[in-house]
Amino acid sequence: KKVVLAYSGGLDTSIILKWLREAYDCEVVTFTADLGQGEELEPARAKAEMMGVKDIRIEDVREEFVSDFVFPMFRANAVYEGVYLLGTSIARPLIAKRLVEIAEETGADAIAHGATGKGNDQVRFELCAYALNPAIKVIAPWREWDLQSRTKLIEYAEKNQIPVPKDKRGEAPFSVDANLLHTSSEGKVLEDPGVEAPDYVYQRTVDPVDAPNEPETITIGFEKGDGVSVNGEKLSPAAFLTKLNELGGKHGVGRLDLVENRFVGMKSRGIYETPGGTILLAAHRGIESITLDRGAAHLKDEIMPRYAELIYNGFWFAPEREMLQALIDKSQEYVTGEVTVKLYKGSAQVVARTSPYSLYSEDLVTFEEGTGTYDHHDAEGFIKLNGLRLRTFGARKAKFGF
Ligand code: ARG
Ligand code: SIN
Repeated sequence: KKVVLAYSGGLDTSIILKWLREAYDCEVVTFTADLGQGEELEPARAKAEMMGVKDIRIEDVREEFVSDFVFPMFRANAVYEGVYLLGTSIARPLIAKRLVEIAEETGADAIAHGATGKGNDQVRFELCAYALNPAIKVIAPWREWDLQSRTKLIEYAEKNQIPVPKDKRGEAPFSVDANLLHTSSEGKVLEDPGVEAPDYVYQRTVDPVDAPNEPETITIGFEKGDGVSVNGEKLSPAAFLTKLNELGGKHGVGRLDLVENRFVGMKSRGIYETPGGTILLAAHRGIESITLDRGAAHLKDEIMPRYAELIYNGFWFAPEREMLQALIDKSQEYVTGEVTVKLYKGSAQVVARTSPYSLYSEDLVTFEEGTGTYDHHDAEGFIKLNGLRLRTFGARKAKFGF
């Protein structure tokens, strides 16, 4: 028997690796993805080797992550519950896809992941996997084993010669998930939403208070809704996001402290850092503001919460997400041009935008005399007819007094 495990090289997935072999008497293939989490992957290889894994898969999927997952999502300006930029949610479908593909390649019977039985990630991994391979078996050790407490977990690790890392405070660190789009931190010191997060939680942004006192103005180029350049330099999708992360991190952009509603029903508190994504969202809205027709723009905004919820809940490979994506992608045909953004102490403000396809007409909107087709007199009838039903309504109110 063979199982493909999503392996980070960390303590939990190392324990899972050992446990899978015992509980299922199986060979384990490990899959470790470089999603831009900023960690060396060689230690994960060394650890897997040390644990006797024969088939170790390590892949750099950063370009695919940004071009096929992050960018399509940003075309929609997707935010969950008003603020969360979905940094973890959007990475899960890619990992699930590769797990399923590797299972098929290696003739494995199942895939396994290290998400707990309480969270969103288990749902995302599994819904995505089932959509791609209806026959795939999924093993979720956290829902099966009796290592429910941290103490038991550590005991199990020590008994099996799995090294247990300790952070500076002498306890296992809070839960972190990082990739090119964001870093999320949950649990431990963050579990009481009534208490501000300590500064050491933040990993990729400076405190806005300590950010440079001089604003920095950058120019972002878009083609059909996707970011293609920074300050005139053409960049690949992953290089583009990396560059924006660097700029945003330096200016303290993209910090978020959020209590959110998990799909499984409970509320959870998370600290998110999405420096590049926060700049990209502002800039994308900026370029859309001159290139999208009002009807198109407002329709996109209406469906956005639904689209974001689908991603949050793990329905990336569902037909309704693909339908909405087709609509969103269609809207981006003319979303090309440049946006200037000013970064300053935690904020990313759009200050200028230009496009060869701009719908903005200075002649039409000017307070000075225009030469165009707009006739002020047309507005009179426009307002009269729009006001017709309001006057009828108002007259009834005047008559009956309620
Ligand atoms: N609450 C966020 C989400 O559901 C982040 C989850 C973080 N996952 C993790 N394994 N630490 O998207
Ligand atoms: C987990 O429970 O594994 C992480 C948090 C989540 O999935 O929501």
